[in-house]
Amino acid sequence: MKVAVVGATGLVGTEMLTVLAARNFPVSELIPVASERSKGKEIDFKGKKYKVVTPSEAIALKPDVALFSAGGGTSLEYAPLFAAAGITVIDNSSAWRMDPTKKLVVPEVNGHVLTAEDKIIANPNCSTIQMVVALKPLHDKYKIKRVVVSTYQSVTGTGVKAVDQLMNERAGIKDGEKAYAYEIDLNVIPQIDVFQENGYTKEEMKMILETNKIMGDDSIKVTATTVRIPVIGGHSESLNIEFEHDFDLADVRAALSAQSGVIVVDDPANLQYPMPKDAHGKDEVFVGRIRRDESQANTLNMWVVADNLRKGAATNTIQIAEALKEKGLI
Ligand SMILES: NC(=O)c1ccc[n+]([C@@H]2O[C@H](COP(=O)([O-])OP(=O)(O)OC[C@H]3O[C@@H](n4cnc5c(N)ncnc54)[C@H](OP(=O)(O)O)[C@@H]3O)[C@@H](O)[C@H]2O)c1
Repeated sequence: MKVAVVGATGLVGTEMLTVLAARNFPVSELIPVASERSKGKEIDFKGKKYKVVTPSEAIALKPDVALFSAGGGTSLEYAPLFAAAGITVIDNSSAWRMDPTKKLVVPEVNGHVLTAEDKIIANPNCSTIQMVVALKPLHDKYKIKRVVVSTYQSVTGTGVKAVDQLMNERAGIKDGEKAYAYEIDLNVIPQIDVFQENGYTKEEMKMILETNKIMGDDSIKVTATTVRIPVIGGHSESLNIEFEHDFDLADVRAALSAQSGVIVVDDPANLQYPMPKDAHGKDEVFVGRIRRDESQANTLNMWVVADNLRKGAATNTIQIAEALKEKGLI
């Protein structure tokens, strides 16, 4: 299969190449794509070198599938052109996620919605993906009424520039390029993406709206506070979940353990709980600190961690491609 990776020189694109190789996705020819700035640069994939091309050049090379992670503007401009040329696009930006004509897919949760009509498929926001994977088995069993989520998000969620900012600050380099308005080392920034009129940030609204769309249930109420922290391994989330029905903690653990893509790490006696350090480079969503919220009936607290560049981006994108291939749609 001819596979184009649009944004191949970026953080998510680089991770996509790693995941394509690790999962043995049948790539007969790789087409690495980036901006004019990177044209001609060589990318290593499975021991072979490939030259970076521009999006227009990639369309002419007619890949079977194009995995986009080059920002919303690039997706808005080029995804329709790829699709018009018969190339299926799986897009990591926020450009198409809430478009009612586009599917927003996490394969373990709603992979069944994919059909032959889908030529541009949206990959959800990283913090939403890891949350819905953990929520899905609990919603099926106890019906979720409301979720209160607070996030602790890695700088890798902002791209190469943000990792450089953190590392420069740690090294005492003051005049490097800045991805954030404030210092991130030894700090916490309670703002991810831009503020909306209602006082929430765009990232918070993404978590709310995307959850309803992926779970196919607008009755689930979600409220979110999203926060950037000086970490690189992955995103962490504190979830407070109120259900319609009561639950047994052992059954909650069993349901989470049985969910594909989830690993339960929950042994307080031995100080075992998920941490971004351990999730780094892994494809799964890790869940721990599972306990009853004793302040309210039918309510659960838990802690969810995943590598945002893996399950939050590259892995989920490639799982969508695998699902399309399995259905004979690419
Ligand atoms: N980081 C995450 O956790 C995460 C998670 C989910 C989704 N995403 C989304 O994925 C996208 C990329 O994120 P990232 O973190 O990988 O950013 P990044 O490290 O800054 O990389 C951006 C990539 O996009 C390419 N690019 C920029 N403008 C382009 C253009 N006009 N035409 C073609 N390629 C262009 C860049 O190529 P050059 O090298 O030529 O500049 C680079 O390969 C964003 O839309 C982001 O919202 C990120």
